[in-house]
Amino acid sequence: MLIELFRDVPPGRTRVLSGSIDRIGDVLRPLGIGSVFVVTDPGIVRCGHAGRMLSLLIDCRASVSGFDAVRENPSKIDVDRCSAALDAAVVDRFGGKEPECVLAIGGGSAIDVAKAAILVRAGGGSIEDYRGVGSLGARVPPLIAVPTTAGTGSEVQSFALISDESTHEKFACGDAAIAPRVALLDAELTRTMPRHVTASTGLDTIGHALEALVTTKGSDVSRRAARDAFVLAASAFDRVLTRADDLEAREAMLQSSSLAGLAIENSMLGAAHSIANALTAKFEMAHGEAVALALPEVVRFNSVEPAARALYREAAFHAGAAQSSDSDDIAIDRLIEQMYAWIGHAGIDLLASRLRRDVHLRDLAEVASRQWTARFNPRAVDRSAFETILEAMIRART
Ligand SMILES: [Fe+2]
Repeated sequence: MLIELFRDVPPGRTRVLSGSIDRIGDVLRPLGIGSVFVVTDPGIVRCGHAGRMLSLLIDCRASVSGFDAVRENPSKIDVDRCSAALDAAVVDRFGGKEPECVLAIGGGSAIDVAKAAILVRAGGGSIEDYRGVGSLGARVPPLIAVPTTAGTGSEVQSFALISDESTHEKFACGDAAIAPRVALLDAELTRTMPRHVTASTGLDTIGHALEALVTTKGSDVSRRAARDAFVLAASAFDRVLTRADDLEAREAMLQSSSLAGLAIENSMLGAAHSIANALTAKFEMAHGEAVALALPEVVRFNSVEPAARALYREAAFHAGAAQSSDSDDIAIDRLIEQMYAWIGHAGIDLLASRLRRDVHLRDLAEVASRQWTARFNPRAVDRSAFETILEAMIRART
């Protein structure tokens, strides 16, 4: 049976269902879907999830074609290849008609490439033409997202994040038309994630929750969603790192990821993601690791703002990191200590070994200050503020 989650969380473009992918027919049938274009990546093919989904779709008598070569941190090249496969499928497989649905199964990369290919197929041109927020207006096939990692929240969002080949910086393409119609959360699928992927995607979720909690753009509803996402992740993150087959904890992380994703859709993100984007453009580093390294010192930096301070304190209390009797200062210190404990448990390579104050700081701060997420941080951040935060990150890790 599929259970519907988060009905009361706007903007509500995506129905979030929890249950086994064996029930995919229950998702397709009410939408009257008979032809499906599947987008996935080679890792999901290797671990058997893509083949299983294919069999299930064939059992539903769907006509199926797809693209299975999405790379990590996908760029225009991935979008072009996927779009070409979609164009060919329309001619060769779907009798000249558009597929009745696109189904992405994989991590954020597969889901983002599926969204980008839908945009390009409907509107033409190159994915770079869709930077920012657009309004396609065209009728596009509904997207069904089946996440196999618990981290990006892409399964509930109207944005695709694509890497620029030359700068390695990510750009966002947003359009309400590409928000998935349905996200199907099956915790069993996330069990095949290697531990370092469980760690980095889980830390990304924690980052999404704590950033969406305090941005200047949030609403009461999105802040509550962000807080609940943080509490869920706080209850489960150590457990998924300790025992890969703890399905209850994996379900909590998946739900946290989607809930934080819904919060971001309304609240956007903050300075930790600005720094993370600068770090991943410069170093070989997973996005979630970069977010995690920035997050504690961004929380410390933001916590001088009274509204952010109160929200952090409340989140720390609900997550069990602080007591109700703790002062604001102690509660926020506990929250920061908890984040460093998670980084330690995740076993992330220490930033200090790669970052050198004299070489990188100014450049990184400059790149971070250009990131769009910086605009929504609760405390104003410019290049010199980013330098201050980066220095605190170095001090904390040495
Ligand atoms: Fe993120």
